[in-house]
Amino acid sequence: MNEVEVLVIGSGAAGLSCALRLAKAGHRVVVVSKTSLQSGSTLWAQGGISAVFDADDSTENHVRDTLIAGAGLCDEAAVRFTVEGGPEGIAWLLEQGVAFTQEDGEERGTRLHLTREGGHSHRRVVHAADATGRAVETTLAALAAAHPNIRIREFCSAVDLIVDRESRPQPRVLGAYLYDIPSGRVSTHRAKAVVLATGGANQVYLYSSNPHGASGDGIAMAWRAGCRVANMEFMQFHPTTLYHRDTRNFLISEALRGEGALLRLPNADGSAGERFMPRFDARGELAPRDIVARAIDHEMKRLGLRYVYLDITHKPADFILHHFPSIHAHCLSLGLDICRQPIPVVPSAHFTCGGVVTDLAARTDVDGLYAIGEVACTGLHGANRLASNSLLECLVFAKAAAEDLIARLPQREMPTQLRPWDESRVTDSDEDVVVSHNWLELRTFMWDYVGIVRTSKRLQRALHRVQLLKQEIDEFYGNYRINADLLELRNLVRCADLIVRSALARQESRGLHYTLDYPDTLPEARPTILPGRA
Ligand code: FAD
Ligand code: SIN
Repeated sequence: MNEVEVLVIGSGAAGLSCALRLAKAGHRVVVVSKTSLQSGSTLWAQGGISAVFDADDSTENHVRDTLIAGAGLCDEAAVRFTVEGGPEGIAWLLEQGVAFTQEDGEERGTRLHLTREGGHSHRRVVHAADATGRAVETTLAALAAAHPNIRIREFCSAVDLIVDRESRPQPRVLGAYLYDIPSGRVSTHRAKAVVLATGGANQVYLYSSNPHGASGDGIAMAWRAGCRVANMEFMQFHPTTLYHRDTRNFLISEALRGEGALLRLPNADGSAGERFMPRFDARGELAPRDIVARAIDHEMKRLGLRYVYLDITHKPADFILHHFPSIHAHCLSLGLDICRQPIPVVPSAHFTCGGVVTDLAARTDVDGLYAIGEVACTGLHGANRLASNSLLECLVFAKAAAEDLIARLPQREMPTQLRPWDESRVTDSDEDVVVSHNWLELRTFMWDYVGIVRTSKRLQRALHRVQLLKQEIDEFYGNYRINADLLELRNLVRCADLIVRSALARQESRGLHYTLDYPDTLPEARPTILPGRA
């Protein structure tokens, strides 16, 4: 049996920051990633990380913007805690060697260039051109791979947490079952503590800006371990993903709108026509993204469009190339020159605002189990996340978890009694089509019935289908040897169930949850909290 002090599941910004802080304090850590080490949504993050640096900005402004975007549902203590941790989080990344974009002519680390995104009243988005996540992820991954206290296990998928449910006053985490994808073997890994940093569940939708692995594994595992899961109805749709035959999930950063790009309707001849956002919100293209995504959805449905345009052609080409080199290069590789042509865009599932309930030290309902990054529901995002607050949350809560662990690890015992993985009653599947068919079916009806605009009837239809799929997938899981696709599907269907049940429970429209049956917002904002498996 393998053992380690802290098992970190996930190697995005949250997992790697936490692992590095623990390792630097002398603790032994194993980091597992179900794909390669450099992975997750972090690698693809474009816009940046919000933090207060501008002389005209203030913590109060950032707190206020976050609360407004969250539509009354943020936990103000969590918002304040996160915002106050912003400058330190950026300073820590600079210390690790992340090369953020500077103001022209400034020396490294002296004056950061700040961009702007929807919902922010000031320029406060620290970035590395338009590939911020890549700069963060590659830097942290290289440090983690070289650190003697960190062992990395790539292509290794956590199947489930091992929990002592009889432990008092709380159930206690003992470790996890890990599935080694190349060999197909499951090992039992014990640990004094486990940190979930597995990212979001946005692949539950047919169209998503996220990489393939965003299947909500951590949310589903924590729920099965008995943790509460909150606010799952608030799935954020990013307004502008590239619409192109050959690329499904390429994001066109909100920073383009921050730097002046305009949303326009396509004319019949394919040229860019009327600007429509001012009809929906006084803030135009810089309204929070729930409003922009809904406006695009409305115009597409009203006019039968396949896409709308995002147009930055009025800006000088050297400005575009300087600020958005990756987006420019990617679009050019597809035959689209964004300096001269408007960009066809559509909304897609982007961010999971809800997740595993934690406190400000990232602790969950299970003793020794922490949740950080997109997997968690800390109270920061409420009913809608403010752009670029998510990488910030990863940094701040990774630090909080590491500090709490550093204080507690000396008193925690290594668990002894762990039930080994039992494969004695399963065989190899002869019907993998069940997995591929259900994967597509689930993501299609979630897109059609649980999307940007909802109704109770569509949600009921989705619930009915989720229940049928859950039954089939659980049966399959109980009878056949596992594989990576089956594990993800089992977790996705659980997340779909949590999303649909949360959406049905919310009889109002608020933030990202918009339903035609309850278009008004209730006077009192309450989170939707679903209990974990009994
Ligand atoms: P991730 O970075 O998603 O990492 C998850 C990790 O968990 C991966 O290593 C994965 O392999 C691993 N994993 C998952 N399940 C398992 C399992 N069962 N077993 C083992 N390993 C597992 N946010 C911002 O703040 N600013 C931005 O500019 C921004 N731009 C974005 C652009 C795009 C295209 C996308 C998709 C997201 C963007 N976001 C942005 C959101 C932000 O990137 C994510 O919320 C954030 O990176 C999540 O980090 P994380 O560490 O929680 O998870
Ligand atoms: C973007 O660059 O538009 C993504 C920003 C975010 O999701 O915070």
